[in-house]
Amino acid sequence: MTKTELKLWVASLPKVELHLHIEGSLEPDLMMALAEKHQLELPYANIEEIKNAYNFEDLQSFLDLYYFGASVLKDEDDFYQLMWNYLLKCKEDNVVHVEIMFDPQTHTERGIEFGVFMQGFKRAIQQAQQEWGQSCLLIMSFLRHLTEKSAIETLQSAAPYLHDITAVGLDSGELGNPPEKFTQVFKMAKELGLKRVAHAGEEGPADYIWGALKELDVHRIDHGVRSIEDPELIEFLIESQHPLTVCPLSNTKLKVFNHMNEHNVLQLLDLGLMATINADDPSYFGGYLNANFFAIIDHLPVEKHHLKKLVENSFNASFMSVEHKIMWLEKMGRY
Ligand code: ADE
Ligand code: ZN
Repeated sequence: MTKTELKLWVASLPKVELHLHIEGSLEPDLMMALAEKHQLELPYANIEEIKNAYNFEDLQSFLDLYYFGASVLKDEDDFYQLMWNYLLKCKEDNVVHVEIMFDPQTHTERGIEFGVFMQGFKRAIQQAQQEWGQSCLLIMSFLRHLTEKSAIETLQSAAPYLHDITAVGLDSGELGNPPEKFTQVFKMAKELGLKRVAHAGEEGPADYIWGALKELDVHRIDHGVRSIEDPELIEFLIESQHPLTVCPLSNTKLKVFNHMNEHNVLQLLDLGLMATINADDPSYFGGYLNANFFAIIDHLPVEKHHLKKLVENSFNASFMSVEHKIMWLEKMGRY
């Protein structure tokens, strides 16, 4: 198959996305519109200037803009609009099931109540479910640059909304904030019946992946590309089949890899790790799920069997029911 044929084929497949920060899907036009609505000053004159600012040196330089961007989100309708716009992209990209991360502390720290964003998110999700059968779960992520005490308070504030939350996650600045800092809150989340994921081995070392597996008892590792530096960890991940939610465009934008042709996702997949493809923060990194597949097709020796495996892995790595997994994998087999 040519690269064009591979792109058309993967675009046509029903897919799953497992690593997507809803705040990272805030497009410049919505940012500008909300700034105007709330009479907030942005340091950008227009959308072009916003896009030009998205040149990052590393994870922290991105996070600074990402948290600043999120400050335009204030009322229930803003959060509805943010979620709705992303769910429309799912429809466009054939993402039939998505597990979306949101960062409560980014909003509660600015005085926005839990119910404001939860109700906005929920309204959009219900509408997409009704209109085209979109399947969607939520992952509440703790900001690792803040204290464990703050994460515990966040978990407590989430109590009235836990029926709408499937898992907890861990994100933000990785270096200097190892998983072990959050052992207690992850234990509490597990006792509440929540699933667990954590960013690890993006900028941080392979040791942080061990920490997430052993201390936080996670079901999946977000990113995990630095696992390649530890042969024992690679052996473990092949054996355990803990999924890695890999984000190619993110990794090149944040200089985890200098160029897409240096990305190791195919290497991880060929070794037998359960790698998946995801967008992370699509509005900041230049593309949604299909664009991430297109980027690896353009720059790596991707074959059809790789794409099939990556997409199948996402279904298997998801928190959807076994019945739904079987149904979707059967449907996929027909493509
Ligand atoms: N928050 C949003 N995107 C993130 C990323 N790629 N790594 C850590 N925290 C994040
Ligand atoms: Zn992420």
